[in-house]
Amino acid sequence: MCGIVGVLGKSEVAPLIVDSLKRLEYRGYDSAGVATLDQGKLVRRRAEGKLRNLETLLENAPLAGSAGIGHTRWATHGAPTVPNAHPHLAGRVAVVHNGIIENYLELREEIVAAGAILESETDIEPVAHLVNLALDRGKTPREAIAEVLPRLKGAFALAFLFEGEDDLLIGARKGSPLAVGHGDGEMFLGSDAIALSPFTDRITYLEEGDWTVVSRTGVEIFDKDNRPVERAEARSSVTSSLMDKGNYKHFMAKEIHEQPQVLGHTLSRYFDYTTKTARVAGAEGLKFKDLQRLTITACGTAYLAGLVSKYWFEKYARLPVEIDIASEFRYRETPLSEKDTALFISQSGETADTLASLRYCKAHGAAIGAIVNVAESTIAREADMVFQTIAGPEIGVASTKAFTCQLAVLAALALQAGRERGVLSAERERELVAELIEVPSLALQALSCEASIEKLAQPLSKASNALYLGRATNFPLALEGALKLKELSYIHAEGYAAGELKHGPIALIDENMPVFVIAPHDAIYEKTVSNMQEVAARGGRIVLITDARGAAESGSSAVSTVILPDMSDIVAPIVYALPVQLIAYHTAVFMGTDVDQPRNLAKSVTVE
Ligand code: G6P
Repeated sequence: MCGIVGVLGKSEVAPLIVDSLKRLEYRGYDSAGVATLDQGKLVRRRAEGKLRNLETLLENAPLAGSAGIGHTRWATHGAPTVPNAHPHLAGRVAVVHNGIIENYLELREEIVAAGAILESETDIEPVAHLVNLALDRGKTPREAIAEVLPRLKGAFALAFLFEGEDDLLIGARKGSPLAVGHGDGEMFLGSDAIALSPFTDRITYLEEGDWTVVSRTGVEIFDKDNRPVERAEARSSVTSSLMDKGNYKHFMAKEIHEQPQVLGHTLSRYFDYTTKTARVAGAEGLKFKDLQRLTITACGTAYLAGLVSKYWFEKYARLPVEIDIASEFRYRETPLSEKDTALFISQSGETADTLASLRYCKAHGAAIGAIVNVAESTIAREADMVFQTIAGPEIGVASTKAFTCQLAVLAALALQAGRERGVLSAERERELVAELIEVPSLALQALSCEASIEKLAQPLSKASNALYLGRATNFPLALEGALKLKELSYIHAEGYAAGELKHGPIALIDENMPVFVIAPHDAIYEKTVSNMQEVAARGGRIVLITDARGAAESGSSAVSTVILPDMSDIVAPIVYALPVQLIAYHTAVFMGTDVDQPRNLAKSVTVE
């Protein structure tokens, strides 16, 4: 994972690098560091933990120099300590890295045998030494890099700074993204357009295997065979303003509360409110009409949005869906051909496993659609068709508004598929769309249950385990509830299909086990109530999330009930996501965990 940045500036660059790193913290926050050239000499500051620790360090001991590189880390090789923090130095070379060098053990052995002393356990320090050894043998920086890059296995985005070379940065990418930012007498390297947004909107994205030699007056780009290549310069529309929390205590709270609004934006992009039809521009490229099967791939919460949509595509479009998490899909060797369509869902558009799965499907000829929130992300750029969620920047590590907006886009695609396949009548489509366009107002009403949810936090904080149950589209929501609780409050939680309860998890039920049952009063409500009785009979502490009718017909088995407005089946998983998010949020706030940046996590997982 990790975020990297490099600046060849006009004056001191350390503050600029820190400003850029603030935008890259979504990639990891285990440690951060900056190296600059102070009168030609490499100097650096590194700090464990969040970026603010590095900022404090730099306030007390500033770094001079108009050329520098910086890094924010999500630890892969080696604990999140200062010695393992980037930039890594070896003689006349400093480097920052995003990715994993898979053959690092072999490289470590080689450079130790050559007499180098390693300070860290990282996979990148040996690379800095290899480059330095090449310099010692009389190579120029660009010759040294050209010699070392082909030896690296795995994924990387790299930025190198060289002692005595105040007008030189060398960057390279394979697997992990890297972009060049063009300034006026200044040049930049960064993991993405977001990193470069404080400096410039003129961006060149490096392609797979490219490396680049950057000076203040220009940039040279080479492909993996060291042939000079031209890469187009694009205008980025990424805003440079840092997001603020408004009146909220956390980004997550703000993002939960933004949902009525951003769902409105997303729905109005994909539905025609006048004719009450799904109108997804570009969907024809997905070839729904004659498709035998739709393949959906994603990670984390985005995967769970895909899982909800499987029910919709199959029910409303009679389109079989094969869905998998990207880390499994990418190595499964699924047979695919030009007849297939593959859909990828990703908030960031940078998730390494999702991207690798996309490339696999593309290589096998499938049509590629992507639902992404970040329009200029790698996944968006590599897909044939992009369906953007209009959620706005999501900063909280746990995805909230991106998830519900993904569901809004997926609902539109499912209805469009139904129409194109001739299985969804115009009348039924109008009914469903009429229901969906009520989502923003239902979401607003759902937020009014926040006070009752806040009261659940204290008893839940005492639990070591929790169970979430749901059926049909509420099953993925049960998985999402458990995921959110785990990642934010560190309470172990599991989501289960309510009907599967008897096949194992019921053994866990006792009076210490909180059980969240997500059950709007729908056609299968009674089945879920039966499962709830089974839990109650064994002393489980049930929290029922339902509507007024569901509450009235639940018997007296629930300890607490969260009551949402009445709504139709297609709308429920979108709106019920809000109380599920609020439960995890308030429990984490009550427990005092770091809500926006939970331990060990990162917003964008750019390593596999
Ligand atoms: C991380 C985040 C999750 C997110 C997942 C997939 O695990 O913490 O919130 O759902 O990555 O990310 P993507 O950007 O591909 O949606």
